[in-house]
Amino acid sequence: MSAIVLDGTQIAAQIKSEVGEEVKELTAAGLRPGLAVVLVGHNPASEIYVRNKVKSCEQLGIYSEKHTPPDNVTTEELLALVADLNRRDEIDGILVQLPLPPQVDAKKVLLAVSPEKDVDGFHPMNVGYLSTQRPGLVPCTPAGIVEILKRSGIAIAGAEAVVVGRSDIVGKPVAMLLLNGNATVTVCHSKTRDLAAVCRRADILIAAIGKAGMITPDFVKPGATVIDVGMNTVTDPAEFKQFFAGNEKRERDFAAKGSTLMGDVHPKVLQVAGAITPVPGGVGPLTIAMLMSNTVKAAKLRRGNAVGVLAGR
Ligand code: GUN
Repeated sequence: MSAIVLDGTQIAAQIKSEVGEEVKELTAAGLRPGLAVVLVGHNPASEIYVRNKVKSCEQLGIYSEKHTPPDNVTTEELLALVADLNRRDEIDGILVQLPLPPQVDAKKVLLAVSPEKDVDGFHPMNVGYLSTQRPGLVPCTPAGIVEILKRSGIAIAGAEAVVVGRSDIVGKPVAMLLLNGNATVTVCHSKTRDLAAVCRRADILIAAIGKAGMITPDFVKPGATVIDVGMNTVTDPAEFKQFFAGNEKRERDFAAKGSTLMGDVHPKVLQVAGAITPVPGGVGPLTIAMLMSNTVKAAKLRRGNAVGVLAGR
């Protein structure tokens, strides 16, 4: 048996096309949505993420601007930048790319982003809205995971969902979304006893740990849906071989770049799971699609209602 591979690129394209239509309507009404991205320093992974975010804005007709303060920026300087973006009416979404350098008080900066422009959904106000089932802005990767499940016809209500990883960005908010969708949710972490046994209970298993190939077939109930949130760069040839020996496409990739991107789920899980998201091409594209969706949602919530163009939505 081999799992159905859930095509995140295709689902993301569908969402982006829907969002693009909304952008057209808003723009025609004089309310072109705008996103400001703040990228501090030169973290290579962050630079790639931000480039893709800005590119998606361009594709969909969303106004975007990128702010790139240097590595040695102070908390106060970032707070001043955020305050300015909060004030500007044409900016609907503000995204401060993480991680921030160690001298910056990241929690203070995220708290300064106006909750109504907080397209990452990281502000405590939005975290509270999510946990109390009020409308608000929901973190992009967790929202994308739920879109994959819904659009692939995988039932959340009544399912046993196990989330491995308890980060503020993925683990906790995805657990909350699944709970709000009436799943029975277990959240696991590094101190969980007999992790494999807990994971084997899952109808829906979410792997958000950050350790290449950690979820092996013995963690997975036959037929389960496995969502792989991991983004791990494998550079060690021995490690590469352990996961991908005999996989020609991966071998070409590794030979060309000296590295390959893989998730937290071992390739052999494909033979046990019922459905699985690949890496790359699974959850990743959804994160960006949901950022676009959140930017439009923020524009509508803050500006659309004021002029009545979106009455009835
Ligand atoms: N760094 C890694 N993931 C994310 C994300 O979803 N949002 C932001 N702002 N930074 C990140």
